Amino acid sequence: MKFFLDTADVGKIKAAVEMGMCDGVTTNPTIIMKSGRGQKEVVQEIAALVPGPVSVEGISEDADGMVKEGTEFAKWAKNIVVKLPMTKEGLKAARILEKKGIKTNVTLVFSANQALLAAKAGASYVSPFVGRLDDVSEDGMQLIADIMDILSNYEFKTEVIVASVRDPVHVMDAARMGAHIATIPPDVFEKLFKHPLTDRGIAQFKEDYAKSKK
Ligand code: G3P
Repeated sequence: MKFFLDTADVGKIKAAVEMGMCDGVTTNPTIIMKSGRGQKEVVQEIAALVPGPVSVEGISEDADGMVKEGTEFAKWAKNIVVKLPMTKEGLKAARILEKKGIKTNVTLVFSANQALLAAKAGASYVSPFVGRLDDVSEDGMQLIADIMDILSNYEFKTEVIVASVRDPVHVMDAARMGAHIATIPPDVFEKLFKHPLTDRGIAQFKEDYAKSKK
């Protein structure tokens, strides 16, 4: 299973890459805005740090505009993936960009049929948003189960990125379901390491070591 970081925080990305825990990065306009930096500058810095794909999202609404924008993004670095919205225009653009050898990630996916359409369009990645479904009292992880089930019937190249991850249970369930990738915000990534019994055990062993015969 691959871990992507869902952030444009270069320091946090660098630390995770050094641990071998960051296989890629996803961004969106909100994440870029929060970084306080220009999109091109920060994405190029991230792309140079990360061994794998870095998703970048534009704002065009028609396929021509998305293809133009995506073609420009792809010049920024070799590992750029163009994020496209789950609309008819987005899928048209995905097909064109993939044919040009530019990888795409169809985002804002909230149903299994949308994921199936993205796979049929030839997208390299599809991003179902689990947290935002949970927010409206739907079961985000059930959507991942359905998508994995459907895609396993066929030979699509599309990889599923579990997105809008809000807690460690989302990551664990994504792994259990065989999702290819989870894109994880830094605060959730930190939580994956922690267990109170680990901390208590370390403290106890340290205490007992100090008490033992030297
Ligand atoms: O990767 C998509 C993700 O950034 C959306 O997350 O928490 O804004 O729903 P969130």
